[in-house]
Amino acid sequence: MAARVIDGKAFAATVRGKVAEQVAALKAKGVTPGLAVVLVGEDPASQVYVRSKGKQTVEAGMHSVEKRLPATASEEEVLAVVAALNADPAIHGILVQLPLPKQVGEAKVLAAIDPAKDVDGFHISNVGLLGTGQKAMVPCTPLGCLMLLRDLHGSLSGMEAVVIGRSNIVGKPMAQLLLGDSCTVTIAHSRTMDLPAVVRRADIVVAAVGRPEMVKGDWLKPGATVIDVGINRTPTESGKDRLVGDCDYASCAEVAGAITPVPGGVGPMTIACLLANTLTACCRANG
Ligand code: GUN
Repeated sequence: MAARVIDGKAFAATVRGKVAEQVAALKAKGVTPGLAVVLVGEDPASQVYVRSKGKQTVEAGMHSVEKRLPATASEEEVLAVVAALNADPAIHGILVQLPLPKQVGEAKVLAAIDPAKDVDGFHISNVGLLGTGQKAMVPCTPLGCLMLLRDLHGSLSGMEAVVIGRSNIVGKPMAQLLLGDSCTVTIAHSRTMDLPAVVRRADIVVAAVGRPEMVKGDWLKPGATVIDVGINRTPTESGKDRLVGDCDYASCAEVAGAITPVPGGVGPMTIACLLANTLTACCRANG
């Protein structure tokens, strides 16, 4: 039986529409949510993401600021930009696009962002709040995955979930969120022995390893839900890159009960959740 295709693009459009409605209501009261994105250097993928974030921020009716620094910027220069944004009352959300050039310490920059404006949820305070089940800013990609899963299943309580990947941005917060929804959670990674056997236990598989088409259909429990966070560019014979996920879509779609496509699955949810987090930060700042 072919899997149901989870339409993240449509779901994200609905989330953005709800955010835009609430932004309009806030603006009628004289408050405009503001998001600042800081981009250091000229990484092509980062430039595409940042442009898209700016465009969607404006479309939601929010104030959008883009701060660009050269790849040669010093750590002090980046910290000075963050400090100015922390102090700016028109800015409710700050996102520093990763990766940063090697002379700029990622941990130091993330720690400098006001946790109340940390719409990425990467500040250690928000990581700790999430880990202890308290009200936190939640990282956008895992939050988007959770929203898709809740929409599909309603309650996730008691389900067996396997997260493949242990990054701070996706794997670890994803596991925390699933635990918060009472799943039994396993975090698998590149050193996991017999990964197919671990994945086969799962009712929910979240693949976030960054390895093109690694998860195969015969690894899955029939009917499992597959959330593919991977966005990998692979060369084709025509010379044009093809976007693929961390799951081998064709074989997985034959066995899964539901699956996110790449593109059009998790990707659009990330920016929608960024806008939702900015709205939340603005509402908290304005009591
Ligand atoms: N680089 C890749 N994904 C992300 C993300 O979610 N947030 C930030 N700040 N940088 C990223």
